[in-house]
Amino acid sequence: MSANSVTAACHTSAVKVLASRRLPGDAFDELDDVEVIALTELAQARPDVEAVIVANEAVPLDLLPALRLIANFGVGVDRIDLDTCARRGIAVTTTPGALDDATADLTFALMLATRRRVVEGDRLVRSGGWPGTSTASRVAEEVTGATLGIVGLGRIGTAVSQRARGFRMRVFYAQPRRLDTDLAEYRDLDEMLALVDILTVHAPLSATTRGLLDARRLALIPDGACVVNAARGEIIDEAALVSECLSGRLFAGLDVFAHEPYPPAALLGLSNVVLTPHLGSGTRQTRQAMTRIVVDNVLAVAHGRPPLTPVGA
Ligand code: DGY
Repeated sequence: MSANSVTAACHTSAVKVLASRRLPGDAFDELDDVEVIALTELAQARPDVEAVIVANEAVPLDLLPALRLIANFGVGVDRIDLDTCARRGIAVTTTPGALDDATADLTFALMLATRRRVVEGDRLVRSGGWPGTSTASRVAEEVTGATLGIVGLGRIGTAVSQRARGFRMRVFYAQPRRLDTDLAEYRDLDEMLALVDILTVHAPLSATTRGLLDARRLALIPDGACVVNAARGEIIDEAALVSECLSGRLFAGLDVFAHEPYPPAALLGLSNVVLTPHLGSGTRQTRQAMTRIVVDNVLAVAHGRPPLTPVGA
């Protein structure tokens, strides 16, 4: 066997793969039997398919009787039916680690943009309404030295807490499990909410975290504080957050929404809110690294090896 054919043999996926989209980066081309199709368009059973590639989408499991792997492009799997997968022995993999830095960077971008009124300032300049003095705009709030509360000190929350050191922030975290870390001080969630200048959410969406930040909890956050969410919109009671922003009591930097791609209409005209379109992992470098992990999982299963990054491992 020549060196080239060894490489080709290593790359060949002996399984039929459906992908809901073409993923960015060269690694995707290593899958040689991949069909790109929106899973919502699958109308008939596909007994030939053994692996699917999705980005946190519902998979029509009943139409895929031979499915062995769902390789998810991302870390959130809240739209995948994990119970049925476990029952049927279908492995579900994610891309842990690859997107922590990009998501933490975006979190800081939202904190900075919201607290420092960057987007409002951009609009002022574009509108021609800026009279040209540095005192014409409304004063903003500092990020440096602020008190930060992190809901969920997992991989992404940890990357946020590391960046917070550079901003000389006091950092608290709340989550069910207390950690041995000097990056952040543990607090009960309600207690932490009362202390923050900035609250940022980095928990996975689950039955326990859905609606975790409800109206009562949002009301505990001090006046003028900023809520950042680059995790999942459903973790916050969106209607309650909208009314806190509409009243002007809270600021918000939101990358995720309960009903994407539809942010609450009431937020669109507010200058105390910065909205981005689920950009957390959206850098070229990170997306390519995510594709690499997705493809490696498919290739592992194709070659009879265990998946590399299964959920729950
Ligand atoms: C994730 O990893 O779940 C992100 O939301 C994808 O960008």
